[in-house]
Amino acid sequence: MDLLILRPQYTAFGMQRLTLRKAAPADTDRIAELFAGDPGDEAIGIAGSREKAIAFGTGMVRLPDSAQGWRQTVVAELDGLVAGILMAGGDHEDTPVTPRLVYLALRTFGPLGILRLLPRLRARVRVQPKTPDGAYHIAEIDVDPAFRNKGIGGALLDHGEAAAHTGGYHIMSLTTSTANPARRLYERHGFQVAETRTDTAYKRYTGIDGRHLMVKELR
Ligand SMILES: CC(C)(COP(=O)(O)OP(=O)(O)OC[C@H]1O[C@@H](n2cnc3c(N)ncnc32)[C@H](O)[C@@H]1OP(=O)(O)O)[C@@H](O)C(=O)NCCC(=O)NCCS
Repeated sequence: MDLLILRPQYTAFGMQRLTLRKAAPADTDRIAELFAGDPGDEAIGIAGSREKAIAFGTGMVRLPDSAQGWRQTVVAELDGLVAGILMAGGDHEDTPVTPRLVYLALRTFGPLGILRLLPRLRARVRVQPKTPDGAYHIAEIDVDPAFRNKGIGGALLDHGEAAAHTGGYHIMSLTTSTANPARRLYERHGFQVAETRTDTAYKRYTGIDGRHLMVKELR
């Protein structure tokens, strides 16, 4: 992914200092914690339990070719503690299906569990809108629950937008569940809902209607 951020950015943040920088291998455990340590209804519904959602999500971050790994991540540090993460870029790809990924799935769900997972994954795919071609895509944004509603998520979005501008992108995109209050944050930052996909099986598994594609045109 082309994060395009070579030097850390510092911002005065109340009495504290917020630093945005590219992640390093040593950040992997913290990225895993922020990415998967507090799973939402969607992840729990698809994985089948909170424990499985945490185990699979943290395992995904640790895979060598992970699309959710440190290479793809910008971290927001508040006085030295990583409080938030952003995974974004113009060339977002899914984690490749390698033997390690299959092993992680078998270890987490077991062979029968994987069979039970398949219809859930298909339902998840049905509600996933297609990302616009050539968009700078926000694939993931997470802030530690202890540090939410302080503007860190907004700072990470601004950082993504600056990188998109620098990279010459004309459009940004993201997807979010129809139940996620983060939509208000995205609308404040100029994103608008461009498409909504719903699915009855997805709703049965997760309790959520579906997912929105949100886009922002850059000028
Ligand atoms: C979305 C998230 C990254 C925002 O980070 P943040 O540092 O709290 O963001 P800010 O302080 O800049 O903005 C606060 C906004 O976040 C949203 N928000 C608040 N609580 C939230 C929650 N539990 N989950 C999702 N979004 C939330 C609201 O839109 C809020 O603005 P509002 O009070 O005007 O409605 C953070 O809430 C989070 O990590 N949520 C869980 C993971 C998630 O849903 N990620 C987005 C996936 S698309």
